[in-house]
Amino acid sequence: MRIAMIGTGYVGLVSGACFADFGHQVTCVDKDESKIAALHRGEIPIFEPGLDALVAANVKAKRLDFTTDLKQPVADADAVFIAVGTPSRRGDGHADLTYVYAAAREIAACLTGFTVVVTKSTVPVGTGDEVERIIRETNPSADVVVASNPEFLREGAAIRDFKWPDRIVVGTADERGRKVLGDIYRPLSLNQAPIMYTARRTAELIKYAANAFLATKITFINEVADLAEKVGADVQEVARGIGLDNRIGAKFLHAGPGFGGSCFPKDTRALIKIAQDNDTQLRIVESVLAVNDNRKRAMARKVAHAVGGNLRGKTIAVLGLTFKPETDDMREAPSIPLVTGLLDMGAKVRAHDPVGIEQAKKELPEIAYYDDPYDCATGADAIVLVTEWVQYRAMDLDRLKEVMAHPVVVDLRNVYRPDEMAAHGFIYESVGRPSAKGA
Ligand code: UDX
Repeated sequence: MRIAMIGTGYVGLVSGACFADFGHQVTCVDKDESKIAALHRGEIPIFEPGLDALVAANVKAKRLDFTTDLKQPVADADAVFIAVGTPSRRGDGHADLTYVYAAAREIAACLTGFTVVVTKSTVPVGTGDEVERIIRETNPSADVVVASNPEFLREGAAIRDFKWPDRIVVGTADERGRKVLGDIYRPLSLNQAPIMYTARRTAELIKYAANAFLATKITFINEVADLAEKVGADVQEVARGIGLDNRIGAKFLHAGPGFGGSCFPKDTRALIKIAQDNDTQLRIVESVLAVNDNRKRAMARKVAHAVGGNLRGKTIAVLGLTFKPETDDMREAPSIPLVTGLLDMGAKVRAHDPVGIEQAKKELPEIAYYDDPYDCATGADAIVLVTEWVQYRAMDLDRLKEVMAHPVVVDLRNVYRPDEMAAHGFIYESVGRPSAKGA
């Protein structure tokens, strides 16, 4: 199969490299010349474990190529994937579809032979209809099927998620379209991934509903964590206790500082708008978003409480800034409102992150950055563990206590156990578990 992938962002680059790895002939297209030039030099614009090696291997095997000009790759393609960005539109939270529609117009003009045009970007229900209208208007004679094939990959685990998905959703009623996409994904049948064929609008809604449900699960356990703290229960055991019920499932029940990232906040916001546009209200999803926003802000108050109520003049060392480990992505990271809140309350903030410092400087230019977590902790009145990087999972606790001015640890990811922190002499606060205080 010949594939053109429009957009070399997260989804486009990972999908393009993985499709090439399946044995397909893939050309990734991006308007950004510097990005394409970098890819030609073998430089990957995003941090994703394993992606550089996957790209290099497939470029070497001549199955993967990059260009700024979509004309030839689209003309040659059996399938053209639209994987351009759909950011939140400033001001109203709707998904901004400018890039998707511009891509559709450009693709339309270059189509030859039967082609399936596939939206992989997360797009509001009905976008496929509009993409089809644009293509037919621009090129009335095009032999084209427009399908939806949403992507469910997580940053940091993107290649594994792409190659071992729980399911593949193909949204088109057209048999020829279903066949092409079925052939493209056939290598995954070895990994037992079921392909679900459905209508285009249903596929579009599946993506939003999946993200909103997962965001709801996280927000639910976060609220239970707040209650657990008040009543002296342990939220991690509660999560295990409910998660063992197959109807609930154990995943996405890890309490923390609130969800962030490029998908959950943006997609829940967009889904609420889609509902409103269709005279419906998704009150649960609206609450999830509001509760999550409040939670991120509340984390700074939690730190203030841990240091005795007053942050003025206190030095706070923040460990982990990215919205989750194994990525340098700072989009909607809980660390941003946390650090801003700490600064507002008069704290001096310094931070460490294994890979996210350069991105973090753009969001949080006013704090001090350290290359080493122990240097960052030296002289601090408290440590706040915000992102559960492996580097923070087995720290030398005695050394940490030694270098700190006061042994206070606020662990927003429940990485450590209260009893072990107490044994090492820390004052320890976590999420949804009893506080601990060492001697
Ligand atoms: C998510 C979806 O998982 C993926 O299917 C979709 O395609 C894109 O959005 P991603 O944003 O990369 O992927 O990260 P994910 O691992 O899902 O985490 C999202 C946020 O939720 C992070 O801030 C994470 O820390 C938080 N989270 C996740 C929790 O707080 N608790 C959990 O139990 C799980």
